[in-house]
Amino acid sequence: QELCDKCDFEEVAYLVLNGELPNKSQLKKFIKQERSERKLSKQILNDIKKMPRNAHPMDVIRTCVSLMALEDKDTKDNSPKANMRKAMRIFAKTPTAVAAYFRTRKGKSIIAPSKKLSFSENFFKMMFNKVPDKEIVRAFDISLILYAEHSFNVSTFTARTITSSLSDLHGAITGAIASLKGPLHGGANEAVMHMMKEIGKPEKAKAWIENALNKKKVVMGFGHRVYRTGDSRVPTMKHYMFKVAKLLKKEKYTRMYEILEKVMLQRKNIHPNVDFPCGPTYYMMGIDIDFYTPIFVMSRITGWSAHIMEQHASNKLIRPLSKYRGAEVREVMLLNQR
Ligand code: SDX
Repeated sequence: QELCDKCDFEEVAYLVLNGELPNKSQLKKFIKQERSERKLSKQILNDIKKMPRNAHPMDVIRTCVSLMALEDKDTKDNSPKANMRKAMRIFAKTPTAVAAYFRTRKGKSIIAPSKKLSFSENFFKMMFNKVPDKEIVRAFDISLILYAEHSFNVSTFTARTITSSLSDLHGAITGAIASLKGPLHGGANEAVMHMMKEIGKPEKAKAWIENALNKKKVVMGFGHRVYRTGDSRVPTMKHYMFKVAKLLKKEKYTRMYEILEKVMLQRKNIHPNVDFPCGPTYYMMGIDIDFYTPIFVMSRITGWSAHIMEQHASNKLIRPLSKYRGAEVREVMLLNQR
């Protein structure tokens, strides 16, 4: 919450990757480096143009990171300096790839990244060819700050596990993206919006969720393996979601939000997680629903990269044992005896 009150996303991205918030000159250098790496190669842009229009954007972005590995001169180098260079390149290029597919899928021309715009402003420019009101950009920036890093969630643990065999950063991030796609994890922000669209209007929300709970359905955007009394990121993101709704006169989603939140608390004592306010906020910004988890990726690249670099810095292979509950030991019979 403090980082959201006092920082821009670029400052937090620096913090996650370097361990401390930047001073003015460190931030200036970081921003210059990030902006200089935003361009995608012609090869990858052509590959994106050839990707099927009905592909899921999470599969597209996962593939783009793999394509980046094919052309990155540092791919095989796991040294701290090479890993930081690769992390910055993937961090800078991911929004460009997300926006390139967003426009390609709509039959629109791809918009090149600008070096004059912030991380969030540039993303909107590449997506919509315009930068929205600064309040909208700030709300988007806030969502990136809140998504950046979150300890050992399943996609981060995936990245750590891949790294522990001394595989490379691109491969670890590719695996993390695959894990984040799942609706029990990052995919929840998309699922929340599908739920809200299915409900349609606030007046129907109470009946809809009562019915879902009676049928023992899992309600997306609620619950958390670690936060049992509420996700500390929600109050901040809810505040900005409500600000955006007021600005864009789309308060039906905030009314729906409050009804669903109330029933979940009353019936199951289950609190919303950060995906619950993020989904509708991105929807009000005019972003297609299946692009919400790729936005989560754009921010979490920083957290994943930090964990990958930490794992490389003092690695031990991650190889759990398991309690075997299969068939008893028996002799191998020859084929003609079976
Ligand atoms: C993220 O780990 C991280 O930090 C992840 C993340 C990050 O920043 O990286 O915070 C991002 O992934 C947030 C979570 C997004 N996922 C969702 O919104 C999907 C919906 N949530 C549920 O699937 C669930 O809450 C989990 C999986 C997130 C956590 O569940 P747990 O801790 O594994 O607990 P559980 O599934 O065993 O549920 C315990 C009980 C069950 O009831 P009973 O069977 O005991 O009667 O609570 C119920 C569950 O049915 N329950 C829910 C529910 N979440 C838990 N019931 C309905 N709807 C829900 N959302």
